[in-house]
Amino acid sequence: MELSDLANLITSRRSIRNWQDKEVPEELLLQAIELATWAPSGGNQQNWRFYIIKNKTILKAIGDAVQASSDLISSWPEAKLLSSSAGGGQRRAGFFQAAPAAIAVAAAKYQSQVDLTLEAREKIDTQAAEMRQWRNIADSRIQSVASAIAHMLLVFHQMGLGAVWMTGPMQAKRDIEKLLKVPAHLDVIAFIPVGYPAETPVSRGRKPVGEVSEIIR
Ligand SMILES: Cc1cc2nc3c(=O)[nH]c(=O)nc-3n(C[C@H](O)[C@H](O)[C@H](O)COP(=O)(O)O)c2cc1C
Repeated sequence: MELSDLANLITSRRSIRNWQDKEVPEELLLQAIELATWAPSGGNQQNWRFYIIKNKTILKAIGDAVQASSDLISSWPEAKLLSSSAGGGQRRAGFFQAAPAAIAVAAAKYQSQVDLTLEAREKIDTQAAEMRQWRNIADSRIQSVASAIAHMLLVFHQMGLGAVWMTGPMQAKRDIEKLLKVPAHLDVIAFIPVGYPAETPVSRGRKPVGEVSEIIR
């Protein structure tokens, strides 16, 4: 593969929020997840779990729960006070009900030996407490799962599928986890509706590389 092929794949991927009424073969979804699991993960703990949702009733129930939580947020006076920064004309929070499938991505616990050491020592040692805090900011648990999601989106795109990485639905986390029967040791952290695209969004562009990077010579 030429670098230009990879560059084209990466730059042509867009978040897709409208889908054709066409089933996505389970084999494709499983293949995308399998490739996603080749992503790096902290300590190679592979602390992810993927729930492939093809059941329309469950997808609708998740959409309803997310929509209800969104309506509740909108009803609060604080939402009106802050509405100028939120932007108008937003789509319904439960729009993904129309997708033929969705992947809920859950994170299991991630704890390295160093984390365990710092946890045991932090109460008697402020340095240990500070180090633990810094390591928590660079949360390996979430970073690992996020790297798998990024892989998965590219694979979907190469397969001709369209998806959108969503964390918004997590405002209805309890309902989602109940509907999916997620065990207590896992946390759903992202929701990814997927299907054959029914839109071709234009790129919103990216900041120039010089603006987002710095060479330390
Ligand atoms: C961590 C994360 C959370 C996101 N959450 C949402 C979301 O809740 N709803 C949504 O419509 N898009 C969501 N997005 C998609 C972004 O809006 C989108 O990636 C960004 O605007 C760039 O557009 P592009 O993906 O088409 O390049 C999320 C993306 C990321 C990486």
